[in-house]
Amino acid sequence: MKKVLVATDKPFAPIALKGIRQVVENAGYALLLLEKYTTPEQLYEAVAEADAVIIRSDLVTREVLNAGKNLKIVVRAGAGYDNVDLAAATEKGVVVMNTPGQNSNAVAELAIGMMVYGARGFFSGKSGTELKGKTIGIHAFGNVGKYVATIAKGFGMDVYAYDPFVSKSDIESCGVKPVDTAEDLYKTCQYISLHMPANDKTKKSIGASLLSLMPNDGVLVNTARKEVIEEEGLMQIMEQKAKFQYLSDVAPDAVEAFQTKFAGRYYATPKKMGAQTEEANTNAGIAAAEQIRDFFEKGEKKYQVNK
Ligand code: 3PG
Repeated sequence: MKKVLVATDKPFAPIALKGIRQVVENAGYALLLLEKYTTPEQLYEAVAEADAVIIRSDLVTREVLNAGKNLKIVVRAGAGYDNVDLAAATEKGVVVMNTPGQNSNAVAELAIGMMVYGARGFFSGKSGTELKGKTIGIHAFGNVGKYVATIAKGFGMDVYAYDPFVSKSDIESCGVKPVDTAEDLYKTCQYISLHMPANDKTKKSIGASLLSLMPNDGVLVNTARKEVIEEEGLMQIMEQKAKFQYLSDVAPDAVEAFQTKFAGRYYATPKKMGAQTEEANTNAGIAAAEQIRDFFEKGEKKYQVNK
């Protein structure tokens, strides 16, 4: 009997786990569960007998892959797969997949929610501002970016986007104004919402040169990855621009410096929670289980990311 391990440091909602279990057991496989683990050794031990593993932001290192002697497939229930050592997986003949789009609405709702939170002075009771009529630039127009655009339009925001991999006509067809360069986006918009993956090109790509183009009351919203921010540059801009806000779904490396220097203009969630909804967990978790079943039963590899 094939064994599917769900290994999540940050557990799925119970309803999502129930759905995953149903797919796995209906396929005739056994479900193994490792939640809230505290050491990599616990993961090495759990993965040892698994044929497949479903993860979230859990680190799948070379060591994990070595420990998974029977492992044939890793599915990241979510979008970003910067937590998986793809080269090691490919070397070992392990297929890696993600579940694109399944948790995007949850992330988009959080991005807009953080904008409201920031605009209302972190719910302090002081007079704030509204999102209506403000400019927002969506940096990377993928699944999450598109949902952010739709919600922002509902708020009456003026929506722009930049994505070197999406055509202007595709952006326009969503009722969003495309711009030619990242610089144009940052020059045009008061709000910038980041939605790119973390990779060699994007890591530390958002720093002083782009942020200096934003207004004094600019707002940078990061529900992507902390790694895309060049933190020294961001801090420099927040020192120069007295009303600039940074709202992030996961704390920066220099968390203490941000907290002390920019109190009232900086907010980070205690734990990455963009995709932490019952709906997103259910959609992404069940998609992951179904992809594993279809891989074993039909050789389906549509969402493989380590080709
Ligand atoms: C993703 O890449 O899908 C999101 O960042 C969600 O990550 P999570 O599953 O760790 O919440």
